[in-house]
Amino acid sequence: MSDEPARKGLFISFEGIDGSGKSTQARLLAEQLRAEGHEVVLTREPGGSPGAEEIRALVLQGDPDRWSAKTEILLFTAARRDHLEKTIGPALAAGRIVICDRFADSTRVYQGAARGDLRAKVDDLHDVMIGREPDLTFLIDMDPAQSLSRGLARNSGEDRFEDFGSEFQIKLRDGFLALAKEHPDRFQIVDGMRDEDSVAADIAARMDAVLA
Ligand code: ADP
Ligand code: TYD
Repeated sequence: MSDEPARKGLFISFEGIDGSGKSTQARLLAEQLRAEGHEVVLTREPGGSPGAEEIRALVLQGDPDRWSAKTEILLFTAARRDHLEKTIGPALAAGRIVICDRFADSTRVYQGAARGDLRAKVDDLHDVMIGREPDLTFLIDMDPAQSLSRGLARNSGEDRFEDFGSEFQIKLRDGFLALAKEHPDRFQIVDGMRDEDSVAADIAARMDAVLA
């Protein structure tokens, strides 16, 4: 989009099903890159700016059937637009590395594929209102049975999507893997069924290769 800031920094996203270890690995990668002297902004979706955090509370709390998938597409995209304007765009324009825990691929998979065939609507709205992709996406892949027990164990009060159950998580995993196939240029698939340090070392090695 013409009103977006020029691309200068590096935009990295983490994707995967609930409880796969995205937040943990996003934080570890941010710590590692900061230790190497990079300026890093660690952020998340939905959220990452004051307005988008307010929308986060609307979409993640309450009954699973509180919003239809179509309404969710609008809410997640509104939050993303604010996040892009207030947090991601300025950080990239200043040359920083932005690490984002989820981005538009989550909408493509959660609303676009797993809850009905709405992918074309997600893509249309993305083109009109967001218009950019991460430079690099780490997909943390894992068995939904394992990740669901990890995620619900946190008892965060933000479990609306986890409450859709394990069949939904299986569809999500397939959806993310299909998306990675669609965009092999930017996706890195990481095996998340290892201990935290092994996953982090794998990601760090791939990151070094990209930065080199
Ligand atoms: P996500 O952001 O994908 O939902 P989190 O990073 O919040 O995942 O991790 C979900 C839960 O699993 C947390 O309690 C976290 O401490 C734990 N966890 C994260 N990575 C691993 C791992 N590799 N092995 C075991 N537990 C993990
Ligand atoms: P997150 O806090 O990352 O959840 P988790 O730590 O359990 O992975 O994201 C919150 C939930 O919001 C998650 O279940 C996925 C969902 N979500 C969508 O459905 N669409 C979206 O566009 C985004 C960004 C998240």
